[in-house]
Order: sequence, then structure tokens, then C-alpha cells
Amino acid sequence: MAVPKILAFAGSARKESINKKLAQAAATEAQAAGAEVTFLDLADYPMPLYNQDLEDESGLPDTAIAFKEQLIQHHGFIIACPEYNGSITPLLKNAIDWATRPASLSEPGLVCFKGKTAALLATSPGGIGGLRGLVHVRAILSGIGVLVLPDQKALPHGSQAFNDQGQIKEPAQAEAIRAIAQKLVAITAKLNP
Ligand code: FNR
Repeated sequence: MAVPKILAFAGSARKESINKKLAQAAATEAQAAGAEVTFLDLADYPMPLYNQDLEDESGLPDTAIAFKEQLIQHHGFIIACPEYNGSITPLLKNAIDWATRPASLSEPGLVCFKGKTAALLATSPGGIGGLRGLVHVRAILSGIGVLVLPDQKALPHGSQAFNDQGQIKEPAQAEAIRAIAQKLVAITAKLNP
């Protein structure tokens, strides 16, 4: 069976982002489960706010093309999604919107999303951990052809959840993330023999 390639990223560009920590913790577990894992920081792919006039005039920005290429190169995604006002962050929505746009006339529609798998995670400083935002991320990704795992995890009190090594301190919470990462790797491997 081919080794599944998983791209892990967070919907935050913030230097001290707790969702980046969560994506990295899950990436470590996916690697331990046998996947080849890449961690991507959206701060390295700054994209202008999507505007169709901009696309008509200049096409896709280089950063959007590079982000798309990373999505194309992987079979599945771990996405840790901060919750802004009960929903997806503008950063993550903007990156997804750009990535749905074709880079050339011959490119198949939604090439970097269709047939891919995704595991959704969230964390926030609050007690619900960003759970409400995942409903919207799930709907968006499902609508563009991504198979989103039913299993998801919103980690509460994310500001205190990680030790200095970036590991999740609470064993039960760490186990929940491990289980989701393992399931993503197993399902992605089966879908990409
Ligand atoms: C937030 N935050 C937040 N938290 C939450 O649990 N539910 C929410 O609806 C919101 N809404 C919200 C809106 C806006 C505009 C901001 C800036 C913040 C707090 C948020 O969870 C916190 O800033 C996290 O640290 C963001 O994630 P990163 O960047 O640390 O990964």
C-alpha cells in the first residue's frame, strides 16, 4: 500500500497560534501512524483578499498557485481551524476560495480538493474549543469534493493545553487527537492504494 501523504495546516497565520500547535501535534501522530506529513504555515502564503476583478486582471497570485500545488501533492489534509465569531477564519476561507480557482483553462475543476480526505480540528482559549466553526468548515470542504472524516475534535482551553515541547498535556485529549490522526491515515491509505 502506498504511503499516504498528509498536509497539515492551521487557519491562522499568527506566530503563537494555538491552532498551529494543534496541527503540528496531529501531524506528529499522523507521521507515527505511517503517513508522510508536511506542515504548511499559511503565513508563508500571503494572498490578497479574493476579488474576481483581481483574478481577471492578473490571474492567481503566485502564493495561491504554490498553496494549490501543496494541496495537489497530498492525498489528505489535517486542518486546525480557529473559530472567529462562531465560524471559519477569513484567512482559511480566502485560501480555500483562491485554491478553488483554476490556474489554467485545461485544469480540471477543484483539482486540489476532489477526492481528498480531511480531518478537522479546532482549539480556542474558551471551553468549547472552537467547535461551532467546524460546522462551517465541514460544509465548505464537503461542497468542493473533500471527504471530511466524521470524527473531529475541538480542544478546549487551548492556551493552556500544550507543554513547552508542543505536546498536548492532558492524556485523554492527546489520545483523541491521536485516534483522529490514525483514522485519517488509515482511510487515506485505503482510498489511495
Ligand atoms: C475570536 N476568538 C473566538 N474564540 C472562540 O472560541 N469562539 C469565537 O467565536 C471566537 N471569535 C473570535 C473572533 C475574532 C475576530 C478573534 C480575533 C478571535 C478567539 C480565538 O479563539 C483566539 O484568538 C485563538 O487564539 C485564535 O486561534 P489561533 O490564532 O491562536 O490559532
